[in-house]
Amino acid sequence: MAASSKSLDGIDARFYQPAEAFFPAHASLALTYDDVTLATLYSEVLPRDTQLDIPLAEGLHLNIPILSADMDTVTESRMAIAMALNGGLGLIHYNMPERQQLSEVSRVKNHVHGLIQDPIQVAPDQLIGDVLKMIEERKFAFSTFPVVDAAGVLVGLLSGHVVKPRYAARTVAEALTPRAQVHTIPKKELGRNPIARADKFFTDHPGIHKLLVVDDQDHLRGLFTMSDVERITQERNAQFKPAGDPHHRLLCGAAVSATRNALGELDRDRILAHVGALVERGVDVVAASTAHGHSKGVGETVKLLRTAFPKLPVIAGNVTSAAGVEFLANCGANVVKVGQGPGSICTTRIVAGVGIPQLTALYVCSRAAQKHGVTLLADGGITKSGDIVKALTLVHGVICGGLLAGCTEAPGEVMEIGGKLYKQYRGMGSMGAMRAGSAARYGHAPHPTQKVAAEGIEALKEVVGSVDRVLAQLIGGIQSGLGYLGAVNLAQLREKALYIRVSPAGMREAAPHDVVELKTGA
Ligand code: XMP
Repeated sequence: MAASSKSLDGIDARFYQPAEAFFPAHASLALTYDDVTLATLYSEVLPRDTQLDIPLAEGLHLNIPILSADMDTVTESRMAIAMALNGGLGLIHYNMPERQQLSEVSRVKNHVHGLIQDPIQVAPDQLIGDVLKMIEERKFAFSTFPVVDAAGVLVGLLSGHVVKPRYAARTVAEALTPRAQVHTIPKKELGRNPIARADKFFTDHPGIHKLLVVDDQDHLRGLFTMSDVERITQERNAQFKPAGDPHHRLLCGAAVSATRNALGELDRDRILAHVGALVERGVDVVAASTAHGHSKGVGETVKLLRTAFPKLPVIAGNVTSAAGVEFLANCGANVVKVGQGPGSICTTRIVAGVGIPQLTALYVCSRAAQKHGVTLLADGGITKSGDIVKALTLVHGVICGGLLAGCTEAPGEVMEIGGKLYKQYRGMGSMGAMRAGSAARYGHAPHPTQKVAAEGIEALKEVVGSVDRVLAQLIGGIQSGLGYLGAVNLAQLREKALYIRVSPAGMREAAPHDVVELKTGA
């Protein structure tokens, strides 16, 4: 008997069922991630050999199936850069003025890995004592700074060797290494592989640890440090490559909204101008994210974008029904977001009494998606890598908000409460976010909130370190899941998955129990 054949009496098949049998058998019950577990299957696949790339749409290929949510406490350029460097995608939120969103997108698209584009600078007339104070206040772990004049022109380098209390009364101009002795490279000479160029420079110049980048007018345009370059060169062998466009720039997505004018009609001109500007900046995909995607306004917005930008991948949502998927697909969406009310900061189900637990919603939507040639993203409610594995048995990718909101790269300040570090995380339908959104998007609109009842809360997330670290944990978990199912890639995971319901006692059994926990798995 082949190791992979089914058991002789078919007992496995009676208990562990494929999606097509399992979900219809639970048709009157809405299930979510913890309600279900996946059966393990014969495997010859090692987790580390699994592939996690996903073709989300034509021209939108990710190397890992994870996106960061378009929320104002999750994704701005820093998060989007970190996501794309890890092979995923960040969706820049739109709770900010349009101009600011455009520059956030530009930062991602112009990001040169390893190049610090806005290095901390000092001015020639500053005192060394002021520089020391700045280092102390802002907790910098470095003490070498480029020196630029008021016009942004490089005048020298302030070396860490002279940033000492004994020189506190001297000016930067007195202590700096003059321009002529500072090593620089013109930005236009960085070529297609700036890291390799910087790496070669450091090899050719023993003892030099900083390389400044300048433009034709000698304005400072960036800074390479040897330690960054060495770290990145080592990471080059990482399994999952950055997600990039054909010009080797990082992928970047941006949220757009179904903006209305004073008469309550869709403001077509404004939407087209906004998306046109995003496209000019090189955005790779736009997301029309709303609480109710199966609606006239969202449909019209998607149609408008599809006609005006035929090649631009469009994500639209959110829906939880096959009819919703069909509607958005027919309007021209390439990718549909599924999730109404599962998010960790969502109160839609409580406030409006609507929404479907996520796994059932994903199943229902996945059948319509197959028929209409769109891909799906599971949006909200993901709290652990096992949830992602379960979601990926039905859809192509997942969107994470809460899991990433405590990362260093998420917007917002770190705060200390009772000895622990936290960052703010809030729903986009919370009062605070709606106020910020209304103010930014509608300028001096008379009513600061468009909705009467908030559908999200304002919360805190414990600080969890870098996106690299969090994604490494999640990806490791997804790869383990694939290994247990004998799936070498995500298409095989979708084909092979077998489900069974879990009892409340089974759920308790799944988490650590009856022990005193000393260390978490992270
Ligand atoms: P997680 O669980 O990852 O969820 O924190 C993130 C997703 O939640 C959605 N979202 C909201 N849903 N009210 C809602 O009902 C809100 O205020 C809200 N804000 C965000 C959104 O889909 C996000 O990706």
